[in-house]
Amino acid sequence: MRKVVYPRTGGVDSIEIIECPEPVPGPNQVRVGVHRAGINFADLMMRQGLYGSNPDPPFTPGYEASGEILEIGSEVSSLSCGDRVLAMTGFGGYSEQVVLDSNRVIKLPDSVTYDQAAAIPVTYGTAFHMLVHLGRIAEGDTVLVHHAAGGVGTAVAQICKSYGASLVIGTASKPKKEFVESMGVKFVDSGSEDFVSVCKELTDGKGVHHALDPVGGNNLMKSYKALRRGGKLYFFGASNAVKGDKRSVISALRMWRNTPSFDPLKMMSSNKAVFGVHMGLLDDESIFKGHLSTLSEMLLNRQIDPIIDSVWRFEDVAKAQMHMHERRNRGKILLDFSPSSRA
Ligand SMILES: NC(=O)c1ccc[n+]([C@@H]2O[C@H](COP(=O)([O-])OP(=O)(O)OC[C@H]3O[C@@H](n4cnc5c(N)ncnc54)[C@H](OP(=O)(O)O)[C@@H]3O)[C@@H](O)[C@H]2O)c1
Repeated sequence: MRKVVYPRTGGVDSIEIIECPEPVPGPNQVRVGVHRAGINFADLMMRQGLYGSNPDPPFTPGYEASGEILEIGSEVSSLSCGDRVLAMTGFGGYSEQVVLDSNRVIKLPDSVTYDQAAAIPVTYGTAFHMLVHLGRIAEGDTVLVHHAAGGVGTAVAQICKSYGASLVIGTASKPKKEFVESMGVKFVDSGSEDFVSVCKELTDGKGVHHALDPVGGNNLMKSYKALRRGGKLYFFGASNAVKGDKRSVISALRMWRNTPSFDPLKMMSSNKAVFGVHMGLLDDESIFKGHLSTLSEMLLNRQIDPIIDSVWRFEDVAKAQMHMHERRNRGKILLDFSPSSRA
């Protein structure tokens, strides 16, 4: 079988696909034949050595995959060969086959496609964690989100709609205006417009209830300023550290240097909150599983439906990641590992 490997820190040209033996499940594990694996912005940062919580190279990225169970361990009774599943791989999802503990696998209802399953965990899980679990979003709330057209951004738009938010303001690159507006989100051009002013103007000068910032650097304090009194800021990424597919030490340092500290006294006097969010480092995995369970119901009730930008054969993984580097994606990018479409 084959898998994608990051052999070292580098650009997309450093990615390799290698042949290796089929993995063998232990007694409490299953072997899954992967059909789809999700690409996340974090995968790009890991490749550049800018992530911090991934294994040392060489390693196979991929937080999430969907596919079919090919083999079960001797102690596994709740799953069978042929079951269609979501695999929460942690790492290693960019692979034709993965072995993982049976409690990290969720059986898919018949109506859920492999595309939908691989597109939901990281993006919707993160959006749900911020807005619902931490933020307790309520009907009528107003929300600011950056990268509004991307994987997390589109998930945020759908969750906000489902929970009755009255206004979602989304920043993105100019060519994505129509797409962002098609989700019912007020578009702000991240290259030329001042999102703080827009947030204030559209909320009678008060600011938004929730600001979701995966950008970092200078952007973070602006997001904080876009909040109303009592508002909540979620810091969950540092895309400002990335410039192109090769690591830019200057951009990374600038992002780090410009990322603000918050004054607790000022936070107290304005009743504002700042959350740091890293879904890969949640101590209690049951929290994430709870989110997935609710999201699965929301999917079945059609309250959410992941927007798939594109599906690429895994042999084209470098092109697929370049597509994200070039800011072209509108929704989620997936890799296709399915045997049926193998050349
Ligand atoms: N903390 C967590 O647990 C967690 C979990 C999931 C995601 N995240 C973060 O959320 C953000 C979105 O992740 P995602 O996987 O859904 O990605 P995404 O938004 O689908 O794709 C990336 C998009 O980000 C924008 N962007 C901004 N700066 C960029 C840069 N330097 N290079 C390339 N694109 C850039 C581009 O859109 P525009 O130019 O149109 O804005 C691009 O299309 C990332 O910062 C990621 O690290 C954090």
